[in-house]
Order: sequence, then C-alpha cells, then structure tokens
Amino acid sequence: MQTLLLLPGDGVGPEVIAEARRVAERVAPDLGLELGLLGGASIDAHGEPLTAATLARARASNAILMGAVGGPKWEGISRNLRPEAGLLGLRKGLDVYANLRPAVCFPALADASALKRDLVEGLDIMIVRELTSGVYFGEPRGIETLADGTRRGLDSQVYTSTEIRRVARVAFELARSRPRKNTAYSGVLSCDKANVMETGVLWREEVTRLHAEQFSDVPLAHMYADACAMHLVRAPRTLNVILADNLFGDILSDEAAMLTGSIGMLPSAALGDPGTPGLYEPVHGSAPDIAGQGVANPCAAILSLEMALRWSLDRAPAADRVRQAVERALASGAATRDIGGALSTRQMGDAVLKALDQL
Ligand code: NAD
Ligand code: IPM
Ligand code: MN
Repeated sequence: MQTLLLLPGDGVGPEVIAEARRVAERVAPDLGLELGLLGGASIDAHGEPLTAATLARARASNAILMGAVGGPKWEGISRNLRPEAGLLGLRKGLDVYANLRPAVCFPALADASALKRDLVEGLDIMIVRELTSGVYFGEPRGIETLADGTRRGLDSQVYTSTEIRRVARVAFELARSRPRKNTAYSGVLSCDKANVMETGVLWREEVTRLHAEQFSDVPLAHMYADACAMHLVRAPRTLNVILADNLFGDILSDEAAMLTGSIGMLPSAALGDPGTPGLYEPVHGSAPDIAGQGVANPCAAILSLEMALRWSLDRAPAADRVRQAVERALASGAATRDIGGALSTRQMGDAVLKALDQL
C-alpha cells in the first residue's frame, strides 16, 4: 500500500494539514495516511526537532506532506535544535534537492494580487529552487568572538558542479514539458550573482554547459538575481521556469507568492532522484500571528497534496480533481481572509470538498 506521511508541525500547520487530510481521504481513500511530529511539536515531545525514527519513517513513505514549523515559543533555542533545523534535516536526509514552487494566479484571485490584474492574470511560472546545499548548509559557519571582543558571524556559500547540474536538469526537463511561452524568457531563466560570487560564476558555467550538452532545444537565459527580483514584479508573465540557488530561490518564491494573491495559496514539491520519496509543503510558515484562530488559508496545503498525488504517488487523475476543485471553490467566491473573504480554514476545506463532489 502507498503511504503518505503527514507532518503537520507547528502554528497553522496542523490547521491547514487537517483540511488537506480530508481532501486526501476523499480523493485517495486507499492511501495509507500516517502521522508524525516535526519541528516545535517534536521538540516538545522528544527534545529534538527531527528524530531518527521520524526520518526513517519519512524515508519509508512514498511521500511526505508537511505543514509548517517554527514559532516564538522555540525562538530562544540554539539554532541546530530549533524547529527550522528539523525541516532542513528532513530535506537533507531525504536528499530532495529540487524544490518546485509554482506561482499560479487563479482567475478568481487576480484582484487579490499586490499587482494590477493585467500584470498577473493568467500567470503560471515555476521556480526551481536548489534545496539541499548552498549557504544553508555550507561549512565553515558559526559565530565566534575575536580576541578584541568583536563578534563575527560566518556562513559559507558552497556549490559543487554535481549539485548545480542535478537541479538544473530538473529545470530543463520541466521547461521541456511545459507549454512554451512566446516571451523573452520562454524556457529557463537561471539566476545567480555571477558578477560578485564565485559560486555564481560556477553556477552560470555549469548551467550553460549542461544546456549545450543535453538541452539546447530549451531556451535558456541568465539574469542576476537582484534583476530577476525586479523583473518578477515588472513583467511576471514573461517568465516561465526560474532556476535559482537555495537562498535566492527562497526569497524569489516569497516574492512570487504575492503575485498570486497570498502566500496561503503557494504549494511546493521537493524532489530527489526518481524513486525516492518527495517532500510536499506549503511555501508559507507557521504564521504565529494567526495561529489558533482557524483562519489560515488551507489552499497551499491542499495544492501541496495535489503535487504529491502527481509527482510521487502517480495519481494524476486524483491530482487533477483536487486542482479543479480548488479552482471551482475559488471561482464560486469561497475565500479566506488573506484572499479577501471571510471563511474559516474549515469552511474553505468544506468548499473544496463540496466542489469535489460536484465535479
Ligand atoms: P509566515 O509565512 O509564517 O507568515 C508570513 C505572513 O503570511 C504572516 O502575516 C501570516 O499570517 C501570513 N500567512 C502565512 N501562511 C498563511 C496562510 N496559510 N493563510 C493566511 N495567511 C498566511 O512567515 P514568518 O512570519 O516569516 O515566519 C513564521 C515562522 O514560520 C518562523 O518561525 C519561520 O521560521 C517559520 N517558517 C517556516 C516555514 C516552513 O515550515 N516551511 C516557512 C517559512 C517560515
Ligand atoms: C521556506 C522557509 C524555510 C527556508 C525555513 C523555515 C527554514 O522559509 O521553506 O521557504 O528558508 O527554506
Ligand atoms: Mn521561505
């Protein structure tokens, strides 16, 4: 039997995963749903954000659906024992190096975007973020006190050619399978800071080399990451697949979220080599400011389930149904506060379930 491990996590995580769970039970009743602890919830129960047992269960599942981790309660803890460290450990432990973060503007939400409707209507871009290397994991790192008492913080941005090539491959393959846009950046737009960083130079060289070797049919362009941030709000629809390292991808995907209406709409998939379990999670965090109120938007979690059905569980028809149900629920006017409505998390889940019944 296929298994989906649910790791609701902290804050609004459990609230939005509860709705994704109801959708999963409806569209894939034979799927084995399991439950585990991650982040602050795991710290409270076991004293660490990711236990070896949870990682082993994740590795043995077909896919993992995570809510969100973190919150003020655990902010004082040392960095490697904080909730976020559990999530990073899970990504690293599963070796899910390619993070797919689609930014799609649903027709009903064009006016909820921070940008004007005519800039975002029909928006459909895919950010491919490297997820298991770069400055998030590079050594050496730390905070030290120098002889004169000055404190010094150090992070290292490190990439190997193998790490760059494997994630670039995912971006090129995705661009091949997606409708080609008739725009300036119709295939892959690779972001780096090759003007100031050594890793940026390597990134650009390796992406260019892989492209010439195996993907010359896919249009490729390069842009400095800061310029890409600007381009994303100036002319987002001219973009198709954006390839970025771990840190730039993190920032660009939050920026892209606001084009779609709300970060509560953005799902993600983290994929490793074929045949290994994928990790699915909303792009948003634990939203401490609204946690416990039952008002978080569950769509990002539900759409993350859609991605799990599609990319890890080989259930494209069920994935299509989930997608259509979310689209129809939104079109019928169902909306949580962040996208201009007044529905609770549960009521939004109800609206998606109702739309599923009507498909
Ligand atoms: P956040 O994404 O939690 O919140 C940013 C803003 O978006 C807040 O105003 C919040 O209310 C809103 N928001 C987020 N999700 C929403 C939803 N589903 N519906 C409606 N509104 C939503 O980011 P933050 O405040 O920077 O971080 C809070 C905590 O979450 C921190 O501990 C951070 O480390 C953690 N975090 C975790 C993840 C993750 O688990 N993948 C991602 C980002 C941040
Ligand atoms: C995300 C989050 C995480 C990241 C944090 C919580 C570790 O911001 O998934 O985008 O920076 O990758
Ligand atoms: Mn982020």
